[in-house]
Amino acid sequence: MFHDIPNSIQERMNYLRTLDAADRKDGTPLLQRLRQVPPETGKFLALIASNAPKGQFIEIGTSGGYSTLWIILSCMKIERKIKTFEVLKEKVQLAKETFRVAQVEPYVELIFGDARDYLEKTEEIAFCFLDAEKEYYKASYDLIIPKMVKGAFLIADNAISHKEDLKPMLNQAMTDKRIDSLIVPIGSGLLFCRKQ
Ligand SMILES: C[S@@+](CC[C@H](N)C(=O)[O-])C[C@H]1O[C@@H](n2cnc3c(N)ncnc32)[C@H](O)[C@@H]1O
Repeated sequence: MFHDIPNSIQERMNYLRTLDAADRKDGTPLLQRLRQVPPETGKFLALIASNAPKGQFIEIGTSGGYSTLWIILSCMKIERKIKTFEVLKEKVQLAKETFRVAQVEPYVELIFGDARDYLEKTEEIAFCFLDAEKEYYKASYDLIIPKMVKGAFLIADNAISHKEDLKPMLNQAMTDKRIDSLIVPIGSGLLFCRKQ
């Protein structure tokens, strides 16, 4: 997967990394910043997603589509399609451009809207990456876990960088008998869960 990343994807990843680095320096307000995962988190997502059971792939928090591109590498390998959700119009435009120029449109459905509305209605989640505003994590976790198929994965970002904000979700995950879980110290720290 990582030895033969198509040029169109590699070039867009580089472009988004440049935008993200500029955001962090030039005083762009927090909500408008891309706030992308680092490449090592992207690789971890791709490795785990490529071993997901049958079912839906979901991402909550597309931003410019950087983490989605990593997950798409697994979709290309095992023939899946990911649904990714973003609430900000400008970021949806950027992500749309990302998927077009990276030439990955067959592997992704980009949805402009709050993922929680979709989660209430959906079933059979095989892989989910949760990377949204921190106050949404616990409600999203509560919606996602019951909808996961056996052996499915939930990965939530910022489990170390925002440990205090995410305490309600993290505390529950550590004692939740529906899943096995641990915190993985990659990037901002990931809550990693596998459904029993
Ligand atoms: C940290 S950024 C995502 C970064 C992205 N995953 C990456 O690594 O390239 C979080 C994004 O989630 C979006 N967001 C927040 N709450 C959301 C929700 N309920 N549904 C969908 N998107 C949401 C924000 O607008 C923001 O763009």
